[in-house]
Amino acid sequence: MDLLNFKNRFLSHLHEKTAVTEPAHLYDPVAYILSLGGKRLRPVLTLMGAEVFGGDFEKALDAALAVEVFHNFTLLHDDIMDAAPLRRSQPTVHEKWDVNTAILSGDAMLILSYQYLESYEGAVYKKLMRLFNQTALEVCEGQQYDMDFETQEQVSEAAYLEMIRLKTSVLVAAALKMGAIIAQASEEQAQNLYDFGLNLGIAFQLQDDYLDAFGDPKTFGKQVGGDILENKKTYLYIQALKRATQEDRRDLLAWYQQDAHLPETKIVKVKALFVKTAADRATQDAIRAYTQKAFACLEGTGLSEQKIADLKAFGQHLMVRKD
Ligand code: IPE
Ligand code: IPE
Ligand code: MG
Ligand code: MG
Ligand code: MG
Repeated sequence: MDLLNFKNRFLSHLHEKTAVTEPAHLYDPVAYILSLGGKRLRPVLTLMGAEVFGGDFEKALDAALAVEVFHNFTLLHDDIMDAAPLRRSQPTVHEKWDVNTAILSGDAMLILSYQYLESYEGAVYKKLMRLFNQTALEVCEGQQYDMDFETQEQVSEAAYLEMIRLKTSVLVAAALKMGAIIAQASEEQAQNLYDFGLNLGIAFQLQDDYLDAFGDPKTFGKQVGGDILENKKTYLYIQALKRATQEDRRDLLAWYQQDAHLPETKIVKVKALFVKTAADRATQDAIRAYTQKAFACLEGTGLSEQKIADLKAFGQHLMVRKD
């Protein structure tokens, strides 16, 4: 399976289908965010999902586009909600333009993503719509939990895992399953691939949490320490609280009770606590464990060893990413 070819073919499809029109103030931010790159992980997964079940990956291009434009819509709104200044190493849309622009251009992208699905018909269209609607609603639910947790001191590991399943994993899983649906895989096969995506998505969000604190500002593309400044209840935070001495626990809780007057100091101090409590290593362990769990789901897909190896290689590659 030629993943570079999938990505390039997707990019040419993206350029073809996203012509900028009037009013410029609505569509320029759409072109802007889509031109900044990103890993294009989800659309590649949609093409892979079709290919592994013997489908023509070209037929999955519109679904891949729907998934990527939907993902980018969530980023516009997520960056407002998270007060994020940087995305893909460039100013976020609400910083470069303003919040109202990011809201409406985001709305337009959500609608565009549904429009790309209009090219499917019959039972395939129905299945895609059902999955896409359910997924989109779940992403909103996950985002709301994420926001609710900002002001909640204690968040259980189970509640956190459910939050990231909703805000991140279901879209990774749906991206794969949409490819499987287009390839007319059986429901059972498509569901096994979905479960692979769910676990891979958990590992992916854990890695995102890790990089948000410990990533290299030169490669990460987002503000390092942004989650700490927003008092996000990440896996790092939950593990640190669980492992901390009484004194460290008091310090961590205190840092998370205030808006940072000294943002740089808050980031340095909290990261030191993450390291001291070995929350950083616990997070790395969990990333590996969920990736392995994802791989185990592939056994039930009935796919050839080669196809399973291709999907695993993709998962391995995600674990060592820097952005
Ligand atoms: C960012 O997604 C949002 C998360 C779910 C962590 P990506 O890390 O896939 O962002 P891009 O598209 O590659 O920029
Ligand atoms: C991403 O969570 C979830 C969605 C965008 C729906 P984050 O808030 O961690 O994503 P980044 O880190 O800003 O990309
Ligand atoms: Mg964010
Ligand atoms: Mg967020
Ligand atoms: Mg993040």
